[in-house]
Amino acid sequence: DGDVYKYYADGEWKKSSSGKAVAITNPTTRTTQYKVQACTQQEVNKVMEIAKIAQKSWAKTPLWKRAELLHKAAGILKEHKIPIAEALVKEIAKPAKDSLTEVVRSGDLVSYCAEEGVRILGEGTFLVSDSFPGNERTKYCLTSKIPLGVVLAIPPFNYPVNLAVSKIAPALIAGNSLVLKPPTQGAVACLHMVHCFHLAGFPKGLISCITGKGSEIGDFLTMHPGVNCISFTGGDTGIAISKKAGMVPLQMELGGKDACIVLEDADLDLVAANIVKGGFSYSGQRCTAVKVVLVMESVADEVVEKVKSRMATLTIGRPEDDCDITPVVSESSANFIEGLVMDAKEKEATFCQEYKREGNLIWPLLLDNVRPDMRIAWEEPFGPVLPVIRIASIEEGIHHCNASNFGLQGCIFTNDINKAMLISDAMETGTVQINSSPARGPDHFPFQGIKDSGIGSQGITNSINMMTKVKSTVINLP
Ligand code: G3H
Repeated sequence: DGDVYKYYADGEWKKSSSGKAVAITNPTTRTTQYKVQACTQQEVNKVMEIAKIAQKSWAKTPLWKRAELLHKAAGILKEHKIPIAEALVKEIAKPAKDSLTEVVRSGDLVSYCAEEGVRILGEGTFLVSDSFPGNERTKYCLTSKIPLGVVLAIPPFNYPVNLAVSKIAPALIAGNSLVLKPPTQGAVACLHMVHCFHLAGFPKGLISCITGKGSEIGDFLTMHPGVNCISFTGGDTGIAISKKAGMVPLQMELGGKDACIVLEDADLDLVAANIVKGGFSYSGQRCTAVKVVLVMESVADEVVEKVKSRMATLTIGRPEDDCDITPVVSESSANFIEGLVMDAKEKEATFCQEYKREGNLIWPLLLDNVRPDMRIAWEEPFGPVLPVIRIASIEEGIHHCNASNFGLQGCIFTNDINKAMLISDAMETGTVQINSSPARGPDHFPFQGIKDSGIGSQGITNSINMMTKVKSTVINLP
């Protein structure tokens, strides 16, 4: 049983009493790469109990000390970037260089979070009563930000490390304890990342990492009475969680169908470069990927040609070889993507390349002349397939964008800043990028989706604030 990675609780690495394991399939080889413990509901209960106790003393630990430990963890994380990146390559088929970048970016995020935390949590407010009608100056109100308690963090497979630390670091600096449920694909990278926090010397029980089957412990975790906040990134599961969760603050980042609106006056080389980068990096498996191009008819032929020639330079193959396009995360994901492609084929979209698939590896594909009756016009492939819809007016583009059930990000390409601002105001998304493809980072920028794309706002500052609550003390004078 030595080859099953242990889970982390109470400052120790443990085997589950279930005696069972969850297999992690390498998307490239489609064979079992690693195994992790299939934890039980009793083990979840135990973790929650310990997290609650550990949080009490952590909240009393001076803020500067909490920050110091986070800085230490950030340094260790960066020192461990090679083995963690190797796990990402094997578990989620992320290209080798991007895997390294994910870990380094995560270390930087943890450090930034420590710095931001000491600043914003070091301040409170002071109010006096006589500004409100009918009051004398007899009440002084002091406020500060206090932790929520136990934060449950559930990151997705596409950034198992980075989207875990973007929840862990704000939770810890704010004085919360943290229970991490990693995605199955990416669990080993997460365990290794947690090991870095362990080495940094955080108190026992403050951080736990519990692995297992969603069907066994998923709902049990998210509906657990010991949880005081849930921060989730992923797909539709988030909608189910938000319906079942109790009276706790939720931070949800779900899917997207980010539109790229191209106007006639845009720099078309910049457009093409951003469509390829935005649409195909990590094989389109980013919630912020460009997922539909809405291009003005008059420049559409030129844009499509420029995108096609750039796509021809993309390398396709193994993540170990740092190819641009690598196998998508699972066979079911590849089948779903193929379903969207076949639907577009039946409905006569123009295939700019031949559709090709080997195992989970799907060749990058641009679909031109997509119409609203095709599934790909609305659904999120989470793969290297990008639809182009030709539009006759800006209004048509905005209408398509806003008719989506998603509202994460969008982008506009034009040299007319006035038009760009008007379109940005009209787009119902959490963020609009002008003259660049959508992206979450830099990680201190606010990041949020509306409609089915999410609840609340992320980004370092917003996450710290979200994981705290205002506490008031009022001094009443006679
Ligand atoms: O997949 C969702 C991520 O939050 C997107 O992050 O824009 O840095 O790729 P990214």
